[in-house]
Parts: sequence; C-alpha cells; structure tokens
Amino acid sequence: MPAISGSAPGKSILFGEHAVVYHRPAIAVPVTQVQARAVVLANPLGTPGQIQIDAPDIDLHCNIESLSQDHPLVILLVELRSHFGINRFPAFTLRIKSTIPIAAGLGSGAAVSVAVARAVSCFLGYPLPNEKISEMVYLVEKTYHGTPSGIDNTVITFAQPIYFVKEKPFELLQVAKPITLVIGDCGVRAPTGEMVAGVRQRWEQDPAKYEKIFDEISEIVMDARMSIENGELDSLGRLMTANHQLLQQLAVSTPLLDQLIDAAIAAGAEGAKVSGAGGGGNMIALSKPGDAEKIAQNLHFAGAARTIITEIKPAGSNSE
Ligand code: PMV
Repeated sequence: MPAISGSAPGKSILFGEHAVVYHRPAIAVPVTQVQARAVVLANPLGTPGQIQIDAPDIDLHCNIESLSQDHPLVILLVELRSHFGINRFPAFTLRIKSTIPIAAGLGSGAAVSVAVARAVSCFLGYPLPNEKISEMVYLVEKTYHGTPSGIDNTVITFAQPIYFVKEKPFELLQVAKPITLVIGDCGVRAPTGEMVAGVRQRWEQDPAKYEKIFDEISEIVMDARMSIENGELDSLGRLMTANHQLLQQLAVSTPLLDQLIDAAIAAGAEGAKVSGAGGGGNMIALSKPGDAEKIAQNLHFAGAARTIITEIKPAGSNSE
C-alpha cells in the first residue's frame, strides 16, 4: 500500500495578535518556506488500533498508547476516530517531519496537526474538507492555551492571507502589491499559552487600560487591511511599528526582540513588530523589494538565530 501524506505551511501574524483573543480583528499570512509533513504507512500485519509515531524532529519514537491523554496527537486522533465513527484505526505508522521552528510563533503545533489530520483522513479514504480540518485543529489548539482565537488553525489550513475575527467567518485578503517580509527568530522559546495567560492576568487587573490598547490595535488592523488591499506599503510599515508599540504596552516584547526590531529599521525596513505571542519567538519586518537580504543580515548581526524571507503575492500571480 502506498504511503499517504498531508502537509501544511507555517504562518506569521502581521497585525493584531493578543487583541484577537479579545474579539478584535487580526491579519495573518501563510509562510510557505517552512512546512510540516505527515506520512501514513499502513501496517497490514499490525493489530488494529496500533499506531507507531516516528517524529525525528522532536525525538518522538513511540506507540501512541505511551502518550498521555492530553498530548495533541492523541487528542487529534481521538477527534478523527469519533468523526469517522470508528473504534480503532487500522494499524499504521505516522511519520512527522517539520521544518517549522517549535514555540517560535510560526504555528508549528497547528501545522503538524493540520498535516496529520489531512494524511490520516486520506488514509481512511475520506479526505476532510478544510473547514473540518480547521475546526478539529482548533480543538487541539485549546489544549495548548485554553483560549486560542482560532487564527493559527485558520491561516495554516487555508494557506492564504486572512482577515480574522474570533468566532466569525474569516475573510480572504486581497493583496494588491507583493509584500516582502523578513522574519527574525530570536531563538528564545516562549509557550503561547503562558504569554496569553500573562496578558489575561494583566487585563483582569486593569480592564479599562487593556481594552483601550486592544481598541487602538483594532484601529491599526483595519487601516492595515486597507493599506494591503490598496497596495500602500509605506503606510503598512508605519502601522506595523505602531502595532509594535502597543504590543510593548501589553508587555509581550523583550529586550532582544526590541533589539531585532531596531536592527531591521536601521537596515531600511519600512516597519517592524513582534509577531505572535512574543516573550521570545519571532519579529517581522516589512522590506522594500531588494532590501530583504540586507535586513536579514543585520538581524543576524543583532542576534537573530534564524531569518526567513517570504513574499506575499497578489492572488493569481504565481503565488507560492
Ligand atoms: O502561536 P503564536 O505564538 O503565533 O500566537 C498566537 C497569537 C495570539 O494572538 C497571541 C494567540 C491567539 O490564539 O490568537
């Protein structure tokens, strides 16, 4: 029996992280330079229900039964079983490979879940539609940080730039001009759940202050949407930096992330900000065409562990 595979890209949040948990809008894009891939290999001689996991990137080689009930893979496979109404899967080996850095704000957990849901549903002969995959992965995301907005599973499943409001149908963004982004990973891992919980704690202590910050972020996101749809990239850069200042007020940036943001601006970026939960992970900078390499180099000088250059292209223009 041939191997069956599923894959999913990484993602980056351009605007509105954290505020999106509180029902403000946010904008996210897929990052196709990094990918998660899952391969299912049937094991016709194995006992039904036996699933061997082989994930070298996270050094996980075990039988599914040895994982705890709250492990994301276990939750996802239980969801898949109940969706298909089966008691046991036919025996198989699940190989997972990912080039998406873990806990770095690029959506590695959600991308692995999307890839696995795609591969396993194809293996069963009933490939799931994107809506269902995204819904299932949202359930898995809840185990990581209790109150996810749903933006990660949505942008990763649909692999298109999106304008997203929690619990509302997402909208595809019409990108008028190519957007070149340089992503700088500061190399420090920060679990999204802890960062989201920290903001919640501060919000509970002073709701008026934080609601005001979320409202200001909301204005920026709506302006950014217009800039993207009208191809006004200089104003987009200014909006990114303004969003970063509000993320600093939410106390999710760090001295190292601020240093990378300053380095990107010094190298000619139009704007830069933390992307994702912060506390570590990555920042993004908007680059003029042709400046991206120079910005990436300066990010390395300033301490970035890794950089990714990605371009968001208008739909239908041979987008990656
Ligand atoms: O997964 P990360 O680190 O990119 O963060 C997700 C973005 C948050 O807004 C902080 C949380 C959420 O669920 O939207």
